[in-house]
Amino acid sequence: MSKKMSIHDLYKMKEAREKIAWLTSYDYPTAQFAEAAGMEMILVGDSLGMCVYGYKSTVPVTMDTCIRHSDAVRRGAPDTFVVGDMPFLSYQASDEQAVMNAGRFLKEADVDAIKLEGGIRVASRIQAITNAGINVIGHIGLTPQSSGQLGGHKAQGRTAEDAQMVIRDAQAVQEAGAKMLLVEAVPPEVTSCIWNSLKIPVLGIGAGVNCDGQLLIVSDLIGQFQAFTPKFVKKYCNMAEIVTNAMKSYVADVKDSRFPGDEHIYKMIAGEEEKLNNLLRI
Ligand code: KIV
Repeated sequence: MSKKMSIHDLYKMKEAREKIAWLTSYDYPTAQFAEAAGMEMILVGDSLGMCVYGYKSTVPVTMDTCIRHSDAVRRGAPDTFVVGDMPFLSYQASDEQAVMNAGRFLKEADVDAIKLEGGIRVASRIQAITNAGINVIGHIGLTPQSSGQLGGHKAQGRTAEDAQMVIRDAQAVQEAGAKMLLVEAVPPEVTSCIWNSLKIPVLGIGAGVNCDGQLLIVSDLIGQFQAFTPKFVKKYCNMAEIVTNAMKSYVADVKDSRFPGDEHIYKMIAGEEEKLNNLLRI
């Protein structure tokens, strides 16, 4: 019998220096694939705005959209540690707003934790949500919701001064009570400093190998998202090509009447065709 992954299991993995595999998913079937593949964690990222809805950024994504997708993912991956991603303007206004929206993820989608972007500037939000009994995962380095302020989707912490700011953010996230930290798009030296100085599990995306595990965006991993491919992505297959080729074959089969074939049709029960002909003759 399978056992549901808990925050304690993830802490035990850190202790045993066993790496944690984390992937985004946005729908029921992909969540099923992720769980079957042995993923310990799934993030229902607000990246769904770009990967599923075709927006240019994550900014237009709403709470209702994130909840709806998280709910589908939960059903597809009942035993995986599912994380709901707080979208832009769901926690920025006040601690109260942050707690209410984080709580919605648990009440309406049964997630195991929420993730929000920012370090020092969101410390009081992390504390408030944690005090409400909800697992929080911090997210620092490149934070896509503020990519406008960061000058685009750019790596962070590449100078000593910037690196120090990222490290201070990491410490603030832990001090505020977050259970885990995600570090995005920083040099591995910065990740190592954070990993060595924090007690909570540190996961990376574009942050090198020196941490407790890795996150990737599923649409990048399977080669489905085509607008751009960040440097840190490893494509494990080319879904765009595979699916387009399959669709091309279908189009050709329809045009040439090769589809549907004999094996795809419903046969009349023996003797019924003759009866039908008789009926039609009357
Ligand atoms: O929304 C998301 O998928 C994320 C990743 C970019 C880390 O937050």
